[in-house]
Amino acid sequence: MCGIIGYIGHQQAIPFLLDGLRRLEYRGYDSSGVAVKNGDISVHKKTGKVADLEASLPTKVEGTCGIAHTRWATHGGVTDENAHPHCSADGKIALVHNGIIENARSLRNYLEKEGIKLRSETDSEVLVHMIDREISTGAKPLTAVRRTLKRARGTWGICVVFESHEKIICARNGSPLVIGLGSGENWVASDTLPLQALTQQVIRLEDGDLAEVSVDGIKTSRFDGRTTDSEVTSLDGEWGEAELGDYPHFMLKEIHEQPEALRQCLTGRLDLKNGNARLGGLGLTAKQLQKIPHVRLLGCGTALHASQVGRLVIEQLARVPTVAHVSSEFRHNNPVIETDAIHFAVSQSGETADTLAAVKEIQLKGGEVRGVINVVGSTIARQCGRGCYIHSGPEQSVASTKAFSNMVAALSLFAIQIGRARSLSREKGKHLVKSLQKVPQLVEEYLANQGPIDEVVDLVKDAKSVLFLGRGISAPVAREGALKLMEIAYIPCLAYPAGEMKHGPIALLEEGSPVVVVAPNDSLKEKTVSSIQECRARGAKIILIHEEGDSIAEEADISIPVPATDPMFTPMLTVLPLQLIAYKAALALGCDVDRPRNLAKSVTVE
Ligand code: G6P
Repeated sequence: MCGIIGYIGHQQAIPFLLDGLRRLEYRGYDSSGVAVKNGDISVHKKTGKVADLEASLPTKVEGTCGIAHTRWATHGGVTDENAHPHCSADGKIALVHNGIIENARSLRNYLEKEGIKLRSETDSEVLVHMIDREISTGAKPLTAVRRTLKRARGTWGICVVFESHEKIICARNGSPLVIGLGSGENWVASDTLPLQALTQQVIRLEDGDLAEVSVDGIKTSRFDGRTTDSEVTSLDGEWGEAELGDYPHFMLKEIHEQPEALRQCLTGRLDLKNGNARLGGLGLTAKQLQKIPHVRLLGCGTALHASQVGRLVIEQLARVPTVAHVSSEFRHNNPVIETDAIHFAVSQSGETADTLAAVKEIQLKGGEVRGVINVVGSTIARQCGRGCYIHSGPEQSVASTKAFSNMVAALSLFAIQIGRARSLSREKGKHLVKSLQKVPQLVEEYLANQGPIDEVVDLVKDAKSVLFLGRGISAPVAREGALKLMEIAYIPCLAYPAGEMKHGPIALLEEGSPVVVVAPNDSLKEKTVSSIQECRARGAKIILIHEEGDSIAEEADISIPVPATDPMFTPMLTVLPLQLIAYKAALALGCDVDRPRNLAKSVTVE
């Protein structure tokens, strides 16, 4: 969703701002804009891609201080006026905002009564006029911003520049801001990706923080005016390359990074000798693990599907009741929270508003939540305080791939750890740990020999709809395959547990209907064969994802084998062809693979 980049220093701002905007494109957006200060402030905004903004800029936009924004519309349509930055009436103050101002309507009424004309339909614009009013009463920039935010309700990450002050004022509440530290220059951004090539030293603002960023320093303070010492952290040690390299798309790059991503997740966490796993960051002793009444997992989209896989692995290996919840539903259903249960918030970005709201609901009711998160230092990771990072490296394609595999791997590690603290034997534990350790190698083998994906693409790309089926641990994998194909190729997809197919979706089947079946060699395979036959009897074409050497291949119209593994770990292999089918179908249909329409990478609104 919306992204922010700002620069103040001794170099021209515009190259940093445009490069930063390009690096923020992955979050999803529909317009962008810049404000650069050179005596007065010049503002340029455009709907469409960052390239459209760039093309619309005058040849020279000079100035060594500026702010820029990618907007994903929430309040008001996709228009140049609604794009950020927004300016005060005299153009002497410019502001960019991520988040939602919930009382924008009443602030707008107040401003209009005072004779101020707003130019956009956005909730954000009210802030810049409120700040302007404070400035006109003689307030300094920081005070003006603080007083304005005291009257605002909602979430914000804002950056403000003033014609007559050499600084950027930033504030955070619910929408992340990170300050990158340079020598005689500093940057501000809504995530660390645009900063990685510029600096390794960052300050992550906390909710309720304000910061004055100038050429030679950063001063941070709290909402109530107290000054604070902010912790400088290093970006070193986070693996993965944020550049595209030789790949045509981030999605393909990230699919191929899965073996390395899985190794990063598993390294140091497998105890081969004792058949155990170690997730030290969870802060749970074997004694505590023995007493846990149940486990609850929360996530959205792909993270939800990974949670649904994790739920089954945990329940199977640890024999402890486990449920996966849709985060966006959770807090509205007044959930009963047992304070000695384990809750996990599962999220790649660590910024998803629905999951964050669920975390807060659990904490409010006295429960503890641990994060299963990719982005280090993200809002949910910090709100939870404890947990385990999945170490996927930067994921920029909206369609999540390597994060899914690593979430499943991390939850599998937890399943082994809690299992061993309860009834899982050392022998079984050893077998599982060994199998898990081999998964990255098997993923590599599959990616080197992917099977007839192009044939599948020919079958699905013009289909009215595609049905995905799987049983047990493969049911959430089928859902993930359907989500991928729908998200990036815009083909209507339906995913069902295979046994439930005959209770409804069977009505859709006609001659040639494509049905993707995920059927690894587990105890449910025979049952899935019956579902395949029911589909074939209605003329459906079966695309079968199965394990190498399994005679179930005979049931397929198109057979895609993946390397065999322990039944608990098949999702990390069976998901791979589904990711490739979606990727290649989107390409065949001419879709924008990495930036599908209407979607955002991290959804920071509920
Ligand atoms: C958005 C993205 C999905 C993602 C979901 C959860 O809807 O489009 O790809 O799976 O958010 O994101 P998270 O960052 O919490 O894993």
